[in-house]
Amino acid sequence: MIQAMNISKSFNGKKVLDKITMEARDGEIFGLLGPSGAGKTTLIRVLTGQLQFEEGDAFVMGKSVKELKGKDKKQFGIMMDDFGLYDRLTCYQNLRVFADVYGVNDEDIYEVLKEVRLEGAEKKEASKLSKGMKERLRLARAFLHRPKVLFLDEPTSGLDPQTANEIHDMILKRKNDGCIIFLTTHNMHEAEKLCDRLVLLNDGHIVEEGAPQELCLRYDHQKRIQVVMKDGRTRDYSFDEKSGEEIGRIIGSGNLLTIHSKEPTLETVFMELTGRRLEV
Ligand SMILES: Nc1ncnc2c1ncn2[C@@H]1O[C@H](COP(=O)(O)OP(=O)(O)O)[C@@H](O)[C@H]1O
Ligand SMILES: [Mg+2]
Repeated sequence: MIQAMNISKSFNGKKVLDKITMEARDGEIFGLLGPSGAGKTTLIRVLTGQLQFEEGDAFVMGKSVKELKGKDKKQFGIMMDDFGLYDRLTCYQNLRVFADVYGVNDEDIYEVLKEVRLEGAEKKEASKLSKGMKERLRLARAFLHRPKVLFLDEPTSGLDPQTANEIHDMILKRKNDGCIIFLTTHNMHEAEKLCDRLVLLNDGHIVEEGAPQELCLRYDHQKRIQVVMKDGRTRDYSFDEKSGEEIGRIIGSGNLLTIHSKEPTLETVFMELTGRRLEV
């Protein structure tokens, strides 16, 4: 479990995290969704014991992050920009460096390389990898030692959709293996796809929290249904009995092409709450 209780953090007198309270439960992917500058990376640095803070406390697996020792940190896997690769080392050598720290054997290194689909590239220098391959190697490094907790800071930022999807599959596999995953993103589609629960973060404040669908339904003020018919017509209906009868008639006539409820996206919810967009 990962718990933050009233965490506040300032840089040069400016509050960048303001009384953050949240809890990520075992077995779930917990998301922090917010635009650039919201405080996502800062919160990950706090939760992984890399950064001191003025107020509150945070606990990972029952231990205060103020008291984390080296051996506790070995239970974490961290993927963030500060944790780069050694450009002159090969894929295998990059993992070997960390394997030595974590007591991981060669067999497991090759197993992890296979899991991130870098088998065959183990002798390739990191500097010669494509961006997608680099990201996969960074992910491999984060879970090389089979940590119980994974912190992923914008794991697909700047990647093409296909590579992002591959990384999503790898993250979901870690969840199925029982890992608790704390993930940050500014991409609502990623949040919707991966996160069991999330918080919306803006300017160091949590503005909402819940499961992605639950959040969208909570802010569905219009409650409309859109029906597209085979003859090209589109109609909007409200959630009432009369609409139900009309929609029933369309379905009965065989003229229905698609039918969707029109709840807002996470981006629209974020806009309503903050007046800002997630991506600029
Ligand atoms: N080491 C630092 N020194 C001063 N300001 C910082 C530092 N790290 C982050 N900040 C500021 O804190 C705010 C939140 O940054 P960050 O956590 O990186 O946001 P995000 O990851 O959501 O983009 C930003 O205004 C950023 O400029
Ligand atoms: Mg960041």
